[in-house]
Amino acid sequence: MTPGKFITLEGLDGAGKSSHAEWLLDHLRAGGRDVKLTREPGGTALGEKLRELLLGRSMHLTTEVLLMFAARNQHLHELIWPALTAGTWIVSDRFTDASYAYQGGGGGLVLEKIEALERWVHPGFEPDLTLLFDLPPEIARARTSKARAADRFEQKTVEYFQRVRAVYLQRAAASAGRIRVIDAAQAPDLVRQQIEEEIGNL
Ligand code: TYD
Repeated sequence: MTPGKFITLEGLDGAGKSSHAEWLLDHLRAGGRDVKLTREPGGTALGEKLRELLLGRSMHLTTEVLLMFAARNQHLHELIWPALTAGTWIVSDRFTDASYAYQGGGGGLVLEKIEALERWVHPGFEPDLTLLFDLPPEIARARTSKARAADRFEQKTVEYFQRVRAVYLQRAAASAGRIRVIDAAQAPDLVRQQIEEEIGNL
């Protein structure tokens, strides 16, 4: 147990994670918490370099998952663990559930390989709470295509995102206490109401 709490946000691109993250940060700060927002891949200077490579160029699926976990390892040692120990709460836009959903579900990498990396990089450590912003891929896609040019992951097919979503929902069903599913198709104030409840239960 560390004094700070570790909250992660997951979901398909276009599910509204980023805007709700900003709101969540303000909400936690208003409650007197010392809190930092970070993201994966990224979160450190090295991690952001790896993010550029991961989002910008195509690569073998194994290379992709290894780089995701390389960035994550740096993120944990440089930022997440020291902050939690110091009592700072961390909100991370994505974490290991995304590797299961994207590289495992979307890409088809066998789950045992991801489990092995998870055990290697952060054995026994997981988020205190994961908010899964759930949305059908067709709606998520319509939202992202309006926002800006698509990165490498956002260019994948609807079938890829259906597999990503399915793995997220399977993981939520298996870890119902940690992963809370939020219907991201609802109006933003209803989404916020649910986030507030989940944070209150922490
Ligand atoms: P994200 O920051 O949510 O994208 P954006 O800033 O464009 O909204 O995530 C970047 C992409 O990285 C996203 O498409 C999912 C992908 N990703 C993985 O495939 N595996 C992972 O382990 C992580 C953390 C992210």
